Amino acid sequence: MRLFLLPYFTFYLFLLLNHFPSYTHSLCNPHDSSVLLQFKNSLALETSAESTRWPRCSSFASKTESWKNGTDDCCQWDGVTCNIVSGRVIGLDLSCSHLKGKLSPNSTIFKLKQLQQLNLAFNDFSGSSVPVGIGDLVNLMYLNLSNCEINGDIPSAISQLSKLVSLSFSNDWLDDPSYWRMRFDPITWKKLILNATNLRELRLDSVDMSSIGERSFTWLMNLSSSLVSLSLTNTGLQGNFPSYVLSLPNLQELDLSFNPDLSGQLPNSNWSTPLRYLDLSLTSFSGEIPYSIGDLKYLNQLSLQACRFHGLVPQSFWNLTQLTNLTLANNKFSGEIPSLISNLRHLASCDLQYNNFTGHLPDVFDKLTDLKFLSLSNNNLGGQVPSSLFHLTELSFLDLSYNKLVGFIPTNISQHSKLNTLSLDDNMLSGTIPHWCFTLPSLKELYLNANQLTGTLSEFSNSMKSLCLSNNKLQGNFPNSIFEFENLITLSLSSTNLSGIVEFHRFSKFPNMYFLDLSHNSFLSININSSADNILPSLETLFLSSSNFRSFPKFLAQLQSLKILDLSNNNIHGKIPNWFHEKLLHSWKDIQHIDLSSNKLQGELPIPPYGIQYLLLSNNNFTGDISSTLCNASSLTILNLANNNLTGMIPQCLGTFSSLSVLDLQMNHLYGSIPMFFSEVNAFASCDYKVKWKPIGRTITTVFGQLHKTRSF
Ligand SMILES: *[C@@H]1O[C@H](CO)[C@@H](O)[C@H](O)[C@H]1NC(C)=O
Ligand SMILES: *[C@@H]1O[C@H](CO)[C@@H](O)[C@H](O)[C@H]1NC(C)=O
Ligand SMILES: *[C@@H]1O[C@H](CO)[C@@H](O)[C@H](O)[C@H]1NC(C)=O
Ligand SMILES: *[C@@H]1O[C@H](CO)[C@@H](O)[C@H](O)[C@H]1NC(C)=O
Ligand SMILES: *[C@@H]1O[C@H](CO)[C@@H](O)[C@H](O)[C@H]1NC(C)=O
Ligand SMILES: *[C@@H]1O[C@H](CO)[C@@H](O)[C@H](O)[C@H]1NC(C)=O
Ligand SMILES: *[C@@H]1O[C@H](CO)[C@@H](O)[C@H](O)[C@H]1NC(C)=O
Ligand SMILES: *[C@@H]1O[C@H](CO)[C@@H](O)[C@H](O)[C@H]1NC(C)=O
Ligand SMILES: *[C@@H]1O[C@H](CO)[C@@H](O)[C@H](O)[C@H]1NC(C)=O
Ligand SMILES: *[C@@H]1O[C@H](CO)[C@@H](O)[C@H](O)[C@H]1NC(C)=O
Ligand SMILES: *[C@@H]1O[C@H](CO)[C@@H](O)[C@H](O)[C@H]1NC(C)=O
Ligand SMILES: *[C@@H]1O[C@H](CO)[C@@H](O)[C@H](O)[C@H]1NC(C)=O
Repeated sequence: MRLFLLPYFTFYLFLLLNHFPSYTHSLCNPHDSSVLLQFKNSLALETSAESTRWPRCSSFASKTESWKNGTDDCCQWDGVTCNIVSGRVIGLDLSCSHLKGKLSPNSTIFKLKQLQQLNLAFNDFSGSSVPVGIGDLVNLMYLNLSNCEINGDIPSAISQLSKLVSLSFSNDWLDDPSYWRMRFDPITWKKLILNATNLRELRLDSVDMSSIGERSFTWLMNLSSSLVSLSLTNTGLQGNFPSYVLSLPNLQELDLSFNPDLSGQLPNSNWSTPLRYLDLSLTSFSGEIPYSIGDLKYLNQLSLQACRFHGLVPQSFWNLTQLTNLTLANNKFSGEIPSLISNLRHLASCDLQYNNFTGHLPDVFDKLTDLKFLSLSNNNLGGQVPSSLFHLTELSFLDLSYNKLVGFIPTNISQHSKLNTLSLDDNMLSGTIPHWCFTLPSLKELYLNANQLTGTLSEFSNSMKSLCLSNNKLQGNFPNSIFEFENLITLSLSSTNLSGIVEFHRFSKFPNMYFLDLSHNSFLSININSSADNILPSLETLFLSSSNFRSFPKFLAQLQSLKILDLSNNNIHGKIPNWFHEKLLHSWKDIQHIDLSSNKLQGELPIPPYGIQYLLLSNNNFTGDISSTLCNASSLTILNLANNNLTGMIPQCLGTFSSLSVLDLQMNHLYGSIPMFFSEVNAFASCDYKVKWKPIGRTITTVFGQLHKTRSF
């Protein structure tokens, strides 16, 4: 997940000494030379297309290309290190060598009995497991089989490697958290840990260790004097992780992230004082941060994201002056963020979002000159937006959204600002939008939704990717400079007092725009009656509520990937056009949300596609029966057909919809019984049902009328 080099002073010294083959001229041992050639010949090379798989590998040539029969000194070959006296091969680094093929259990490479370091990382040995022969290399101190597509059980022979100092079987897993490569069984684990008593570095990211129970963690104590680095990301570990591992006297790095079933607590005393890197994100670690965390004076990176911590952050925490990357996001921390935060002079990234921090946000950020990323969103913070944040020249991402901040957005920003993203959504900010928001060249994403901002909008001279100013008291003209933005992908300008005419065909400039919201602008006239083709072909979310349309916007017929459509509160007359039915049935496979309520629609109800969650058709004049095709839409969460002219029976299948939480059929001419039994897992929401939606930092609040579940319809 990250690279972290440790000062294995003695170990690297050893490698260094062996890396100067030119000082003495000892030719390589012919046996070793022939073994190397046989190994080379047993493998193929990846094609150049295949070899792009590992972006971390910069080299495009295989090290083995320099290995040729007849070139006398194999000690000069790429990736080969020899003992300067004996000429025996003691080190082999074939990482990133584009090797492809199977590693056979008895591969000749295991005849290199003097080998002390072996690195085969970033090659393609698909279909191989860790070869049993590895146990023959009893002199190995360094073994790196990371990211080389090896699968299967780790053989128990591994425990013969009693001299190991560094072992890595790690795999990057990127998107798929259930991606496991190799498997460790408890017996092999125990034998290895108890035999390899010099292990300093152990990296088993994405190795399946789910069968290694709590009791087997204990063996790590036997490495107490040696262990420096332990990385067990995404290993399926479960149970209670012993906190004494965090007390190992030499531990500098501990990564247990992405093990959601692993619980544990931070130690109250005796921390591993050299600790520099601690990542417990996405585990079930819980409790409070103890005062003693202040002892970790070298701590550089701390991630406790999405765990189950709570309580106050102790004062001593703000003494961790070496912190560069800090995330406490998605926990239940509370209390104030003290001005002591200004002690953390080296902070580059600070993420405290989704907690319950309260109080005034102190204006003390001037000295955090390395700060690039700051998110405090979704807390309970009050006070003003600290102007010191805008003096910072490295800050590129600032998110203070979903708090209770008041006052103005600072009017001054550093000339050298690199601010790229500013999000202040859902606060109580007032005043006007400062001038720099319209001019700062680095600014690409501006989210100021749901505040009390006033004034007019200037024309923009910068070029935004996302501009979201909905739910403010903005007035004056719709800024046409928006149409000059080259890369606009999200535009949210609903519920404003902006006026003027929006010529919809101008949106044809934005082939990548996926989110557009121009709802509820009573002074804005949206002119959509154009024949222009190919308007917003990538659109996924469209909100055009209360926009005075009399018919369905025709450009919808060309959209391929619509997910959310809101055309409520317009003046749309007549039947739903056939092309719309067609799109629903055959094209919009991912549609989740359709709101056509409060129009003047007539005729039959549309057939809701399978997978839809929100279907809102109330306050129209739909007639006819509720067809049994509705029964296919079993993922419905909200179904509102109230205030129409529907007749016939209430479909009984509604009782089987397990996610249904709002059902409103009132004011129709329906008859029959309400389903006697609603699915047991179904949980009806309270009468006022709120949908909180945050595709790009926007809240939609849909308040429904009363939920009539027990009365006759
Ligand atoms: C290297 O070349 C010699 C003589 O040409 C030959 O006998 C030997 O088998 C070759 N070794 C390998 C590993 O190809
Ligand atoms: C490895 O073992 C296989 C069968 O298990 C055998 O066919 C092959 O010749 C052996 N290779 C070497 C290099 O010993
Ligand atoms: C421990 O390592 C030694 C040396 O390689 C080996 O002889 C012994 O069998 C190993 N013990 C276990 C339990 O694997
Ligand atoms: C394993 O080798 C790869 C490629 O050289 C390197 O990036 C990685 O840091 C190595 N792992 C260890 C634990 O040394
Ligand atoms: C493991 O550590 C415990 C406690 O220090 C010790 O009693 C035991 O002998 C050690 N086991 C081995 C196999 O080294
Ligand atoms: C902390 O370490 C000291 C000295 O090694 C020891 O006496 C004490 O029991 C330890 N405390 C805890 C809670 O482990
Ligand atoms: C922070 O560190 C200073 C200097 O080392 C020390 O005097 C102070 O007591 C520490 N504060 C806390 C709260 O641990
Ligand atoms: C630390 O934060 C900086 C700034 O956001 C970032 O560039 C860097 O990748 C982070 N480092 C790690 C290890 O997450
Ligand atoms: C957040 O903290 C405030 C003040 O301490 C408290 O009243 C409130 O209940 C907390 N909210 C949550 C969700 O924990
Ligand atoms: C903003 O900057 C100008 C010019 O640098 C300065 O005169 C003014 O006092 C600053 N305003 C605030 C509120 O800092
Ligand atoms: C329902 O239909 C009847 C007659 O077809 C009509 O008079 C009435 O206005 C309709 N109700 C609504 C709410 O449109
Ligand atoms: C509702 O639709 C019916 C039949 O389509 C029509 O007769 C009636 O006038 C409509 N009601 C309103 C209020 O538009």
